[in-house]
Amino acid sequence: MESNEQQRREGFARVFGAQPQLRVSAAGRINLIGEHVDYCGGKVFPAALNLNCTVYARPNGTNTINVYADDLRETAVLDIAQIGAYRHIKWGKYQAGVAHVLRGQGVPLVGCDLYYSCTVPFGSGLSSSAAIEVATAVTLCELTGTPYSLKELAVLSQKAENEYCGVNCGIMDQFASAMGKKEKAILLDCKTLEYEYVPLELGAYELIVANCNKPHALVESKYNERRAEVEAALEKLRVIYPQVSCLAEVTPAMFAEAKGVLSGKLCDRAAHVVYECARVQEAAAALKKGDIETLAALINASHDSLSKLYEVTGREPDALAYAAREQEGCIGARMIGAGFGGCIIAIVKKECAETFKAEVGAAYQKAVGYAASFYDTSIEDGVTVQKL
Ligand code: GLA
Repeated sequence: MESNEQQRREGFARVFGAQPQLRVSAAGRINLIGEHVDYCGGKVFPAALNLNCTVYARPNGTNTINVYADDLRETAVLDIAQIGAYRHIKWGKYQAGVAHVLRGQGVPLVGCDLYYSCTVPFGSGLSSSAAIEVATAVTLCELTGTPYSLKELAVLSQKAENEYCGVNCGIMDQFASAMGKKEKAILLDCKTLEYEYVPLELGAYELIVANCNKPHALVESKYNERRAEVEAALEKLRVIYPQVSCLAEVTPAMFAEAKGVLSGKLCDRAAHVVYECARVQEAAAALKKGDIETLAALINASHDSLSKLYEVTGREPDALAYAAREQEGCIGARMIGAGFGGCIIAIVKKECAETFKAEVGAAYQKAVGYAASFYDTSIEDGVTVQKL
């Protein structure tokens, strides 16, 4: 048994005085392109990572769901009868939210001991919360033998985050975590939830994920603010295009005709969404053809738009992405996820990868005064389930 696995199982026995019977993991994700468009009905292009949230579980014959975090060394005790009442706790809120939503769908809940070990760094923009939600949803269904579809659990996990945790996120993270496939990116239409797997083959290049390590601040309120802004922009555009049900349906040509109804920031926000949606289509076509240079150019354009029009980058993600782009062998880099910190992805010539990390790390440290982290990542299946 791999030493990590051994330690976690021993940890379970120490905390709960018994052996786990089930192990479920759900992945964090990257997103090639299509940022801040999922809640506008756009297409996104995420892929599941080897960084994940693993839950070890057993039913415990009580009326509580006990959730332990191995990094925090903290247990939250969730009373099933009061499962709606944990919205304000820090650790355990996501699990309570998922349990609450599942119960609302008629899924029976049983008392259980759950031990969480998460390798997705928190607040990194790699979706640690979605990984926790999806892993929890799968675990709770498995423990009661409730049949489930991963797609449906992704939607319920998003509902938990929206309604229980108060973050108005789109579907991308939970979907990627639940539905990811090894070495594939998912081209997902967030309006219809139709999707297609595209092999993530980058030829002479590799994908590097780096964290700008900015302390988490105000991401949720800024995120909800952007969402409100694009909804306001949509309302105004609908005066011209009443047939349109989401911003993703506004093409660049339609936008050029109608953008006069929008002013200032609202116009910038909507422009980001409209052109980002167009970039996703081009990026998917480029990846399918193996045209990595075009994909990378679109990735750069996405970052610039997120920085200048959508204003969700900030000093640190900009410093990291621009330092990356200046490096030899790097043909594209951009922030991923909600922004205001978190991670970037970079497309880098394989033979330049090591020098890239050293040089970008040094340039970033010089620019912001602290270090970035670089992760060894691969694209993996989103969910794995194993009876122990
Ligand atoms: C967060 C949200 C997603 C998505 C991204 C931005 O990760 O959870 O739904 O909106 O930000 O693309």
